[in-house]
Amino acid sequence: TLEPSSLSGDPRLIVISNRVAVPKARGAAGAQGGLAGALHAALKDRKGLWFGWSGQESESGRTGHIDTQTNDGVTTATIDLSQRDIDEYYTGYANSTLWPLFHYRLDLAEYERETGKGYERVNERFAELSAPLIEPDDVVWIHDYHLIPLGERLRSRGIKNRIGFFLHIPWPPTRLFVSLPYHERLVRTLLYYDVVGFQTQEWLDSFLHYCENELRAEVDETTGQVSFEGRTTFARAYPIGIDWDQFSKLGQTGQARQAQQRLMSSTRRRLAMIGVDRLDYSKGIPERIDGIGRFFDRNPESIKDLVFIQIAPPSREDVESYQAIREELERKCGQINGARSEVDLVPIRYVNRGYSHAELFGFFRGSKIGLVTPLRDGMNLVAKEYVAAQDPEDPGVLILSRFAGAAAQLQDAVLVNPHSPDDIAHAIKTALDMSLAERKRRYEQMVVTVRDDNVQNWTADFLRDLSQPA
Ligand code: G6P
Repeated sequence: TLEPSSLSGDPRLIVISNRVAVPKARGAAGAQGGLAGALHAALKDRKGLWFGWSGQESESGRTGHIDTQTNDGVTTATIDLSQRDIDEYYTGYANSTLWPLFHYRLDLAEYERETGKGYERVNERFAELSAPLIEPDDVVWIHDYHLIPLGERLRSRGIKNRIGFFLHIPWPPTRLFVSLPYHERLVRTLLYYDVVGFQTQEWLDSFLHYCENELRAEVDETTGQVSFEGRTTFARAYPIGIDWDQFSKLGQTGQARQAQQRLMSSTRRRLAMIGVDRLDYSKGIPERIDGIGRFFDRNPESIKDLVFIQIAPPSREDVESYQAIREELERKCGQINGARSEVDLVPIRYVNRGYSHAELFGFFRGSKIGLVTPLRDGMNLVAKEYVAAQDPEDPGVLILSRFAGAAAQLQDAVLVNPHSPDDIAHAIKTALDMSLAERKRRYEQMVVTVRDDNVQNWTADFLRDLSQPA
């Protein structure tokens, strides 16, 4: 078999995503979300080009300018967007309509005609600016909910290359999805791709259900082949992974050791529990704090033995629901700390900044419990990183939401219903009481998956299907 990194005769890979990992931001791993880190890893082994938004607002007169840079062997080509584009496409349609809807939060989804138009306009702009960069033999791989219509826009400009799409977030059940105005229009654009990838079988099933029942497309569930209006698309599940080689090596760095040391000496003899999430309502952070509050209510003496550290770098701060979740979290942490602290003991440490991967490695290794309890999550790579960072001789326990994509693979975590404070409190108790033998058994099962289903294999699997459909 061919090794992904040695496929020198391979066609060039063009990756297009809204967010591009810019070198200066690479420190704040928790703030970036899974996509940027995974794509950086996927691209660094291949010659390729990564096209996307710079994250910046364009100064007038600079629209259409493409900034090209090569760092760590990855060439990025980024464009600025106007403030109106950012408001309508990114803050508006992508993050106030699609993100909440795809995370099953109809209550938070906003349906505004104007932002929908902005979304289509920016997708058209991405097509206009990226199409001239695409050469006939290139393989094009488009990512995430910001850019669903881009493949169809490129096709309309005559691009005949193989084009694949990967969705990093869940795909909602049909009954929720049909609440989106013009839902059919959006799905039709997906059927211009050669391959459409999802994180788990569950999201894939929802997508195929829609194609079959709403669109009346011909669906072959065993191969994932969707035939519609004379075209064929393959829809399949490709669970994303971490860059195992790179991440597991971090344990040997001074930065990781110091971070672990710093965490452990600061907690003195207390056991540390940790959560690391972008500050997003889908991550279930207030619900997690409720669960921890419940645990302390039942075990008041345990504040001498246990401290919870929540790292939550703020995200999408222009979206109202993100401002609301931040306030809610501040209030909850304040309430529990106010009610439970002693002058020298504070049960919850709440931190609004990001850390480098090496520091997070150290924090994960120094924490005997990892709490990853999203209400809904496409995959969740923090769960996999927590496992990868553990000491094999004395591993910590992962408490994982059954509603994270990762739960399908990490069945040996302590699985919880993240909506239930009782369930979370009970899981903490289970973790604290767990024998070393049991912790090792669970760790050994999970670490095999985390190591083998890594980001290199994810990339290789997707690109294999994209270059030679079954
Ligand atoms: C999730 C999404 C990514 C996104 C990331 C960070 O992981 O799937 O597409 O890049 O969150 O969010 P942001 O809005 O800062 O790009």
